[in-house]
Amino acid sequence: MKRISIIGAGRVGLVVAACFAKMGNKITVVDIDERKIAEINSKVSPIAEPGLDEILNEFEIEATSDYEKVIDSEAIFICVDTPAKKDGSISLESITAATEQISNVLKCRESYTLITIKSTVVPGTSEEVILPILESSGKRAGEDFGLCMSPEFLRGGRGIEDFMYPARIIIGEHDAKSGDMLCDLYQVFDAPIMRTDLRTAEMIKYASNIFLATKVSFINELGNICKLLGIDAYEVAKGMGFDDRIGDKFLNAGLGFGGSCLTKDLKALIARAKEIGYEPKLLEQVLGLNERQALKVLELLKRHIPVRGSTIGLLGLAFKPGTDDISDSMAITIAETLTEEGAKIKAYDPLAMHNFQKSFPWLECSTPEEVLNCDAVVIATEWEEFNRLDYRGKIVIDGRRVPKAREARIYEGICW
Ligand code: UDX
Repeated sequence: MKRISIIGAGRVGLVVAACFAKMGNKITVVDIDERKIAEINSKVSPIAEPGLDEILNEFEIEATSDYEKVIDSEAIFICVDTPAKKDGSISLESITAATEQISNVLKCRESYTLITIKSTVVPGTSEEVILPILESSGKRAGEDFGLCMSPEFLRGGRGIEDFMYPARIIIGEHDAKSGDMLCDLYQVFDAPIMRTDLRTAEMIKYASNIFLATKVSFINELGNICKLLGIDAYEVAKGMGFDDRIGDKFLNAGLGFGGSCLTKDLKALIARAKEIGYEPKLLEQVLGLNERQALKVLELLKRHIPVRGSTIGLLGLAFKPGTDDISDSMAITIAETLTEEGAKIKAYDPLAMHNFQKSFPWLECSTPEEVLNCDAVVIATEWEEFNRLDYRGKIVIDGRRVPKAREARIYEGICW
Protein backbone atom coordinates (compact mmCIF):
# COMPACT_ATOMS: atom_id res chain seq x y z
CA MET A 1 0.00 0.00 0.00
CA LYS A 2 1.29 3.45 -0.96
CA ARG A 3 0.12 6.85 0.18
CA ILE A 4 -0.89 8.65 -2.99
CA SER A 5 -2.35 12.13 -3.51
CA ILE A 6 -4.28 13.19 -6.56
CA ILE A 7 -4.53 16.90 -7.29
CA GLY A 8 -7.71 17.77 -9.17
CA ALA A 9 -11.02 15.92 -8.86
CA GLY A 10 -12.07 16.27 -12.48
CA ARG A 11 -12.72 13.52 -15.00
CA VAL A 12 -9.10 12.36 -14.98
CA GLY A 13 -8.29 12.89 -11.29
CA LEU A 14 -11.36 11.04 -10.05
CA VAL A 15 -10.69 8.02 -12.24
CA VAL A 16 -7.00 7.91 -11.26
CA ALA A 17 -7.93 8.26 -7.56
CA ALA A 18 -10.62 5.57 -7.74
CA CYS A 19 -8.39 3.09 -9.58
CA PHE A 20 -5.41 3.55 -7.27
CA ALA A 21 -7.78 3.17 -4.28
CA LYS A 22 -9.13 -0.05 -5.77
CA MET A 23 -5.55 -1.31 -6.09
CA GLY A 24 -5.19 -1.00 -2.30
CA ASN A 25 -3.48 2.38 -1.91
CA LYS A 26 -4.35 5.11 0.58
CA ILE A 27 -5.72 8.01 -1.46
CA THR A 28 -6.13 11.71 -0.77
CA VAL A 29 -7.79 13.91 -3.40
CA VAL A 30 -7.17 17.66 -3.32
CA ASP A 31 -9.44 20.12 -5.10
CA ILE A 32 -10.42 23.77 -4.68
CA ASP A 33 -14.12 23.08 -5.28
CA GLU A 34 -15.81 22.52 -1.89
CA ARG A 35 -18.93 21.09 -3.51
CA LYS A 36 -16.92 18.33 -5.17
CA ILE A 37 -15.05 17.65 -1.93
CA ALA A 38 -18.30 17.27 0.01
CA GLU A 39 -19.72 14.93 -2.65
CA ILE A 40 -16.64 12.70 -2.72
CA ASN A 41 -16.55 12.54 1.09
CA SER A 42 -20.19 11.49 1.10
CA LYS A 43 -19.27 8.81 -1.46
CA VAL A 44 -21.08 10.37 -4.40
CA SER A 45 -19.29 10.95 -7.68
CA PRO A 46 -19.46 14.59 -8.86
CA ILE A 47 -19.54 13.33 -12.48
CA ALA A 48 -21.34 10.59 -14.37
CA GLU A 49 -18.67 7.98 -15.11
CA PRO A 50 -19.53 4.26 -15.08
CA GLY A 51 -18.10 2.46 -12.04
CA LEU A 52 -17.04 5.57 -10.10
CA ASP A 53 -19.91 5.59 -7.61
CA GLU A 54 -19.32 1.91 -6.80
CA ILE A 55 -15.59 2.43 -6.12
CA LEU A 56 -16.23 5.57 -4.04
CA ASN A 57 -18.67 3.53 -1.98
CA GLU A 58 -16.42 0.58 -1.45
CA PHE A 59 -13.05 2.23 -0.86
CA GLU A 60 -11.90 5.00 1.45
CA ILE A 61 -10.94 8.16 -0.45
CA GLU A 62 -10.36 11.35 1.47
CA ALA A 63 -11.13 14.61 -0.34
CA THR A 64 -9.85 17.94 0.92
CA SER A 65 -8.86 21.45 -0.14
CA ASP A 66 -5.96 21.42 2.31
CA TYR A 67 -2.58 20.80 0.66
CA GLU A 68 -1.05 20.06 4.09
CA LYS A 69 -2.75 16.66 3.84
CA VAL A 70 -0.43 15.83 0.94
CA ILE A 71 2.66 16.08 3.10
CA ASP A 72 3.11 12.37 3.81
CA SER A 73 2.40 11.22 0.23
CA GLU A 74 4.97 9.05 -1.50
CA ALA A 75 3.48 9.93 -4.88
CA ILE A 76 1.52 12.94 -6.10
CA PHE A 77 -0.37 12.95 -9.40
CA ILE A 78 -1.27 16.34 -10.87
CA CYS A 79 -4.56 15.97 -12.74
CA VAL A 80 -5.89 19.54 -12.86
CA ASP A 81 -7.49 20.95 -15.98
CA THR A 82 -5.50 22.84 -18.62
CA PRO A 83 -8.30 24.53 -20.57
CA ALA A 84 -7.98 26.56 -23.75
CA LYS A 85 -7.70 30.34 -23.48
CA LYS A 86 -9.78 32.49 -25.84
CA ASP A 87 -7.00 32.39 -28.46
CA GLY A 88 -6.83 28.58 -28.27
CA SER A 89 -3.51 28.46 -26.42
CA ILE A 90 -3.31 26.44 -23.23
CA SER A 91 -4.08 28.01 -19.87
CA LEU A 92 -1.57 26.96 -17.23
CA GLU A 93 -3.29 28.88 -14.46
CA SER A 94 -4.64 25.85 -12.52
CA ILE A 95 -1.52 23.75 -12.95
CA THR A 96 0.88 26.49 -11.87
CA ALA A 97 -1.31 27.28 -8.84
CA ALA A 98 -1.41 23.60 -7.88
CA THR A 99 2.34 23.23 -8.41
CA GLU A 100 3.04 26.25 -6.18
CA GLN A 101 1.03 24.60 -3.40
CA ILE A 102 2.93 21.34 -3.87
CA SER A 103 6.19 23.28 -3.83
CA ASN A 104 5.22 24.74 -0.44
CA VAL A 105 4.53 21.27 0.87
CA LEU A 106 7.87 20.00 -0.50
CA LYS A 107 9.73 22.60 1.61
CA CYS A 108 8.69 20.75 4.76
CA ARG A 109 8.89 17.20 3.45
CA GLU A 110 11.93 15.21 4.54
CA SER A 111 11.53 12.12 2.37
CA TYR A 112 11.49 11.64 -1.38
CA THR A 113 8.17 12.24 -3.20
CA LEU A 114 7.43 11.35 -6.80
CA ILE A 115 5.46 14.05 -8.62
CA THR A 116 3.76 12.95 -11.83
CA ILE A 117 1.99 15.26 -14.24
CA LYS A 118 -1.08 13.71 -15.83
CA SER A 119 -2.64 16.97 -17.00
CA THR A 120 -2.21 17.54 -20.74
CA VAL A 121 0.48 20.20 -21.20
CA VAL A 122 2.17 21.47 -24.36
CA PRO A 123 5.69 20.12 -24.97
CA GLY A 124 8.23 21.85 -22.80
CA THR A 125 5.86 22.74 -19.95
CA SER A 126 7.09 20.17 -17.42
CA GLU A 127 10.71 21.25 -17.80
CA GLU A 128 10.23 24.97 -18.36
CA VAL A 129 7.27 25.78 -16.09
CA ILE A 130 6.61 23.00 -13.56
CA LEU A 131 10.20 22.05 -12.66
CA PRO A 132 11.31 25.61 -11.74
CA ILE A 133 8.27 26.07 -9.48
CA LEU A 134 8.96 22.77 -7.71
CA GLU A 135 12.65 23.61 -7.31
CA SER A 136 11.79 27.03 -5.88
CA SER A 137 11.06 24.99 -2.72
CA GLY A 138 14.83 24.62 -2.33
CA LYS A 139 14.56 20.89 -3.09
CA ARG A 140 16.23 19.31 -6.15
CA ALA A 141 14.55 17.13 -8.76
CA GLY A 142 16.25 13.74 -9.04
CA GLU A 143 17.55 14.00 -5.47
CA ASP A 144 14.82 15.22 -3.09
CA PHE A 145 11.85 14.57 -5.33
CA GLY A 146 11.07 12.80 -8.58
CA LEU A 147 9.36 14.24 -11.63
CA CYS A 148 7.53 12.37 -14.38
CA MET A 149 5.04 13.26 -17.10
CA SER A 150 2.71 10.37 -17.80
CA PRO A 151 -0.18 11.34 -20.07
CA GLU A 152 -3.59 9.74 -19.71
CA PHE A 153 -5.56 8.34 -22.61
CA LEU A 154 -8.86 7.90 -20.76
CA ARG A 155 -12.03 8.09 -22.81
CA GLY A 156 -15.04 9.69 -21.19
CA GLY A 157 -17.51 6.98 -20.17
CA ARG A 158 -14.79 4.30 -20.25
CA GLY A 159 -12.26 5.93 -17.96
CA ILE A 160 -12.02 3.16 -15.34
CA GLU A 161 -11.71 0.46 -18.00
CA ASP A 162 -9.07 2.47 -19.90
CA PHE A 163 -7.07 3.08 -16.71
CA MET A 164 -7.18 -0.55 -15.54
CA TYR A 165 -6.50 -2.03 -19.00
CA PRO A 166 -4.36 0.54 -20.82
CA ALA A 167 -3.15 -0.02 -24.38
CA ARG A 168 0.18 1.50 -23.40
CA ILE A 169 1.80 3.41 -20.58
CA ILE A 170 3.99 6.38 -21.41
CA ILE A 171 6.48 7.53 -18.79
CA GLY A 172 8.32 10.76 -19.46
CA GLU A 173 11.03 10.97 -16.82
CA HIS A 174 13.24 13.75 -15.53
CA ASP A 175 15.75 11.12 -14.35
CA ALA A 176 15.95 7.33 -14.09
CA LYS A 177 15.07 7.16 -10.38
CA SER A 178 11.80 9.03 -11.02
CA GLY A 179 10.97 6.73 -13.94
CA ASP A 180 11.82 3.59 -11.93
CA MET A 181 9.46 4.62 -9.17
CA LEU A 182 6.58 5.29 -11.56
CA CYS A 183 7.27 2.00 -13.34
CA ASP A 184 6.99 0.32 -9.97
CA LEU A 185 3.56 1.90 -9.36
CA TYR A 186 2.38 0.83 -12.81
CA GLN A 187 3.75 -2.72 -12.46
CA VAL A 188 0.29 -4.15 -11.93
CA PHE A 189 -0.81 -3.27 -15.46
CA ASP A 190 -0.45 -5.68 -18.33
CA ALA A 191 0.60 -3.12 -20.94
CA PRO A 192 3.73 -2.08 -22.81
CA ILE A 193 5.59 0.66 -20.93
CA MET A 194 7.56 3.20 -22.93
CA ARG A 195 10.09 5.34 -21.07
CA THR A 196 11.19 8.59 -22.60
CA ASP A 197 11.96 12.20 -21.72
CA LEU A 198 9.42 14.69 -20.37
CA ARG A 199 8.77 16.66 -23.57
CA THR A 200 8.41 13.55 -25.76
CA ALA A 201 5.78 12.20 -23.35
CA GLU A 202 3.96 15.53 -23.55
CA MET A 203 4.03 15.38 -27.36
CA ILE A 204 2.86 11.74 -27.49
CA LYS A 205 -0.38 12.84 -25.82
CA TYR A 206 -1.00 15.60 -28.38
CA ALA A 207 0.05 13.41 -31.29
CA SER A 208 -2.37 10.67 -30.22
CA ASN A 209 -5.41 12.88 -29.77
CA ILE A 210 -4.70 14.91 -32.87
CA PHE A 211 -4.25 11.77 -34.96
CA LEU A 212 -7.69 10.61 -33.81
CA ALA A 213 -9.16 14.01 -34.69
CA THR A 214 -7.46 13.82 -38.10
CA LYS A 215 -9.02 10.42 -38.78
CA VAL A 216 -12.48 11.84 -38.03
CA SER A 217 -12.01 14.95 -40.19
CA PHE A 218 -10.57 12.78 -42.97
CA ILE A 219 -13.55 10.42 -43.02
CA ASN A 220 -15.97 13.33 -42.75
CA GLU A 221 -14.41 15.05 -45.72
CA LEU A 222 -14.54 11.81 -47.65
CA GLY A 223 -18.11 11.27 -46.43
CA ASN A 224 -19.21 14.65 -47.72
CA ILE A 225 -17.84 13.75 -51.15
CA CYS A 226 -19.39 10.27 -50.91
CA LYS A 227 -22.84 11.74 -50.22
CA LEU A 228 -22.62 13.93 -53.30
CA LEU A 229 -21.65 10.87 -55.34
CA GLY A 230 -24.36 8.63 -53.84
CA ILE A 231 -21.85 6.42 -52.01
CA ASP A 232 -22.17 5.23 -48.39
CA ALA A 233 -19.09 6.43 -46.47
CA TYR A 234 -19.50 3.63 -43.91
CA GLU A 235 -19.13 1.00 -46.62
CA VAL A 236 -16.02 2.80 -47.83
CA ALA A 237 -14.57 2.90 -44.28
CA LYS A 238 -15.32 -0.81 -43.85
CA GLY A 239 -13.44 -1.58 -47.04
CA MET A 240 -10.48 0.54 -45.96
CA GLY A 241 -10.40 -0.98 -42.47
CA PHE A 242 -9.27 -4.43 -43.63
CA ASP A 243 -5.83 -2.92 -44.25
CA ASP A 244 -4.24 -3.01 -40.83
CA ARG A 245 -2.06 -0.03 -41.67
CA ILE A 246 -5.33 1.93 -41.79
CA GLY A 247 -7.44 0.05 -39.22
CA ASP A 248 -11.21 0.07 -38.88
CA LYS A 249 -11.49 2.29 -35.79
CA PHE A 250 -12.34 5.99 -35.56
CA LEU A 251 -13.60 6.13 -39.11
CA ASN A 252 -17.27 6.80 -38.35
CA ALA A 253 -18.29 9.73 -40.50
CA GLY A 254 -20.88 12.14 -39.11
CA LEU A 255 -21.19 15.41 -37.25
CA GLY A 256 -17.55 15.47 -36.18
CA PHE A 257 -15.66 15.26 -32.91
CA GLY A 258 -16.52 16.97 -29.65
CA GLY A 259 -15.37 16.45 -26.06
CA SER A 260 -13.00 18.17 -23.73
CA CYS A 261 -9.81 16.89 -25.35
CA LEU A 262 -9.64 16.61 -29.12
CA THR A 263 -10.56 20.22 -30.01
CA LYS A 264 -8.70 21.72 -27.07
CA ASP A 265 -5.52 19.76 -27.83
CA LEU A 266 -5.65 20.65 -31.52
CA LYS A 267 -6.00 24.34 -30.69
CA ALA A 268 -3.22 24.21 -28.10
CA LEU A 269 -0.71 22.57 -30.45
CA ILE A 270 -1.66 24.93 -33.28
CA ALA A 271 -1.04 27.89 -30.96
CA ARG A 272 2.25 26.43 -29.70
CA ALA A 273 3.47 25.66 -33.25
CA LYS A 274 2.72 29.22 -34.35
CA GLU A 275 4.44 30.61 -31.28
CA ILE A 276 7.64 28.87 -32.39
CA GLY A 277 7.25 30.05 -35.98
CA TYR A 278 5.66 27.04 -37.69
CA GLU A 279 2.44 27.17 -39.74
CA PRO A 280 0.56 23.93 -38.87
CA LYS A 281 -1.58 23.74 -42.03
CA LEU A 282 -2.91 20.20 -41.65
CA LEU A 283 -3.91 20.75 -38.02
CA GLU A 284 -5.76 23.95 -38.91
CA GLN A 285 -7.68 22.13 -41.64
CA VAL A 286 -8.60 19.28 -39.28
CA LEU A 287 -10.08 21.85 -36.91
CA GLY A 288 -11.74 23.92 -39.64
CA LEU A 289 -13.37 20.88 -41.26
CA ASN A 290 -14.76 19.84 -37.90
CA GLU A 291 -16.26 23.28 -37.27
CA ARG A 292 -17.89 23.20 -40.72
CA GLN A 293 -19.28 19.69 -40.36
CA ALA A 294 -22.01 20.49 -37.82
CA LEU A 295 -23.33 23.22 -40.14
CA LYS A 296 -24.28 20.52 -42.66
CA VAL A 297 -27.35 19.90 -40.51
CA LEU A 298 -28.75 23.29 -41.44
CA GLU A 299 -28.04 22.73 -45.13
CA LEU A 300 -29.82 19.35 -45.10
CA LEU A 301 -32.77 20.61 -43.04
CA LYS A 302 -33.33 23.47 -45.49
CA ARG A 303 -33.83 20.93 -48.29
CA HIS A 304 -36.96 19.69 -46.56
CA ILE A 305 -38.48 22.44 -44.39
CA PRO A 306 -38.22 26.20 -43.94
CA VAL A 307 -36.06 26.44 -40.81
CA ARG A 308 -37.31 29.88 -39.74
CA GLY A 309 -40.46 29.49 -37.63
CA SER A 310 -40.15 25.68 -37.39
CA THR A 311 -39.67 23.68 -34.21
CA ILE A 312 -36.73 21.33 -34.49
CA GLY A 313 -36.28 18.37 -32.16
CA LEU A 314 -32.70 17.72 -31.08
CA LEU A 315 -31.92 14.16 -29.96
CA GLY A 316 -28.65 14.09 -28.02
CA LEU A 317 -26.70 16.84 -26.27
CA ALA A 318 -23.70 14.97 -24.84
CA PHE A 319 -20.61 15.00 -27.09
CA LYS A 320 -20.91 11.22 -27.33
CA PRO A 321 -23.09 8.51 -25.77
CA GLY A 322 -22.46 7.27 -22.23
CA THR A 323 -21.52 10.62 -20.70
CA ASP A 324 -23.15 13.77 -19.33
CA ASP A 325 -20.24 15.81 -20.74
CA ILE A 326 -21.23 18.51 -23.22
CA SER A 327 -17.74 20.00 -23.73
CA ASP A 328 -17.38 21.13 -27.34
CA SER A 329 -20.43 19.03 -28.19
CA MET A 330 -21.70 19.37 -31.74
CA ALA A 331 -25.17 19.78 -30.23
CA ILE A 332 -24.08 23.25 -29.05
CA THR A 333 -23.21 24.40 -32.58
CA ILE A 334 -26.44 22.90 -33.92
CA ALA A 335 -28.66 24.46 -31.22
CA GLU A 336 -26.99 27.88 -31.62
CA THR A 337 -27.08 27.83 -35.43
CA LEU A 338 -30.72 26.76 -35.64
CA THR A 339 -31.74 29.36 -33.07
CA GLU A 340 -29.91 32.08 -35.01
CA GLU A 341 -31.77 30.93 -38.12
CA GLY A 342 -35.11 31.52 -36.35
CA ALA A 343 -36.03 27.95 -35.36
CA LYS A 344 -37.35 26.89 -31.97
CA ILE A 345 -35.60 23.90 -30.40
CA LYS A 346 -36.82 21.10 -28.17
CA ALA A 347 -34.08 18.79 -26.96
CA TYR A 348 -33.70 15.47 -25.19
CA ASP A 349 -30.68 13.65 -23.81
CA PRO A 350 -30.68 10.79 -21.30
CA LEU A 351 -27.87 12.27 -19.17
CA ALA A 352 -26.74 15.70 -20.34
CA MET A 353 -29.86 17.91 -20.21
CA HIS A 354 -28.97 19.32 -16.80
CA ASN A 355 -25.43 20.23 -17.86
CA PHE A 356 -26.64 21.76 -21.11
CA GLN A 357 -29.25 23.93 -19.42
CA LYS A 358 -26.69 25.17 -16.91
CA SER A 359 -24.69 26.71 -19.78
CA PHE A 360 -27.55 27.36 -22.20
CA PRO A 361 -30.62 28.11 -20.08
CA TRP A 362 -32.63 29.16 -23.15
CA LEU A 363 -32.76 25.60 -24.44
CA GLU A 364 -36.11 23.87 -23.90
CA CYS A 365 -35.65 20.28 -22.79
CA SER A 366 -38.37 17.75 -23.25
CA THR A 367 -39.25 14.06 -23.57
CA PRO A 368 -38.17 11.92 -26.55
CA GLU A 369 -41.81 11.70 -27.64
CA GLU A 370 -42.23 15.48 -27.73
CA VAL A 371 -38.94 15.87 -29.56
CA LEU A 372 -40.15 13.40 -32.18
CA ASN A 373 -43.34 15.43 -32.60
CA CYS A 374 -41.43 18.50 -33.81
CA ASP A 375 -41.44 19.61 -37.47
CA ALA A 376 -38.12 17.80 -38.01
CA VAL A 377 -35.65 15.88 -35.87
CA VAL A 378 -31.84 16.09 -35.74
CA ILE A 379 -29.84 13.26 -34.15
CA ALA A 380 -26.63 14.62 -32.63
CA THR A 381 -25.55 11.74 -30.33
CA GLU A 382 -25.88 8.02 -31.00
CA TRP A 383 -27.42 6.96 -27.67
CA GLU A 384 -28.55 3.32 -27.77
CA GLU A 385 -32.08 4.27 -26.72
CA PHE A 386 -32.48 6.43 -29.85
CA ASN A 387 -32.39 3.18 -31.80
CA ARG A 388 -35.62 2.13 -30.12
CA LEU A 389 -37.70 5.24 -30.93
CA ASP A 390 -40.50 5.30 -33.50
CA TYR A 391 -39.44 7.55 -36.37
CA ARG A 392 -42.22 6.58 -38.77
CA GLY A 393 -43.76 9.59 -40.51
CA LYS A 394 -40.99 11.98 -39.36
CA ILE A 395 -38.34 14.06 -41.07
CA VAL A 396 -34.96 13.05 -39.66
CA ILE A 397 -31.47 14.44 -40.24
CA ASP A 398 -29.13 11.87 -38.74
CA GLY A 399 -25.67 13.03 -37.72
CA ARG A 400 -24.65 9.78 -36.04
CA ARG A 401 -25.97 6.85 -38.07
CA VAL A 402 -28.77 5.49 -35.88
CA PRO A 403 -30.09 2.50 -37.90
CA LYS A 404 -33.74 2.73 -36.77
CA ALA A 405 -34.01 6.35 -37.87
CA ARG A 406 -34.00 5.15 -41.48
CA GLU A 407 -37.69 4.25 -41.11
CA ALA A 408 -38.46 8.01 -41.11
CA ARG A 409 -40.65 9.42 -43.91
CA ILE A 410 -37.75 11.63 -44.95
CA TYR A 411 -34.28 10.47 -43.85
CA GLU A 412 -30.96 12.15 -44.54
CA GLY A 413 -27.60 11.03 -43.16
CA ILE A 414 -24.87 13.65 -42.93
CA CYS A 415 -22.39 11.63 -44.99
CA TRP A 416 -24.61 8.89 -46.39
C1 UDX B 1 -10.48 11.24 -26.31
C2 UDX B 1 -9.43 10.18 -26.60
O1 UDX B 1 -10.04 9.08 -27.28
C3 UDX B 1 -8.76 9.73 -25.32
O2 UDX B 1 -7.77 8.78 -25.58
C4 UDX B 1 -8.18 11.00 -24.69
O3 UDX B 1 -7.29 10.81 -23.69
C5 UDX B 1 -9.30 11.94 -24.34
O4 UDX B 1 -9.92 12.32 -25.57
P1 UDX B 1 -13.00 11.27 -25.47
O5 UDX B 1 -12.90 12.76 -25.55
O6 UDX B 1 -13.64 10.65 -24.30
O7 UDX B 1 -11.53 10.63 -25.57
O8 UDX B 1 -13.80 10.83 -26.75
P2 UDX B 1 -13.67 9.82 -27.96
O9 UDX B 1 -14.34 8.54 -27.64
O10 UDX B 1 -12.27 9.72 -28.40
O11 UDX B 1 -14.54 10.59 -29.05
C6 UDX B 1 -14.27 11.95 -29.40
C7 UDX B 1 -15.27 12.50 -30.37
O12 UDX B 1 -15.05 11.99 -31.67
C8 UDX B 1 -16.73 12.21 -30.06
O13 UDX B 1 -17.50 13.37 -30.24
C9 UDX B 1 -17.12 11.16 -31.08
O14 UDX B 1 -18.50 11.20 -31.39
C10 UDX B 1 -16.27 11.57 -32.26
N1 UDX B 1 -15.97 10.43 -33.15
C11 UDX B 1 -15.23 9.38 -32.71
C12 UDX B 1 -16.42 10.46 -34.47
O15 UDX B 1 -17.07 11.42 -34.89
N2 UDX B 1 -16.10 9.41 -35.29
C13 UDX B 1 -15.38 8.34 -34.87
O16 UDX B 1 -15.14 7.44 -35.68
C14 UDX B 1 -14.94 8.32 -33.54
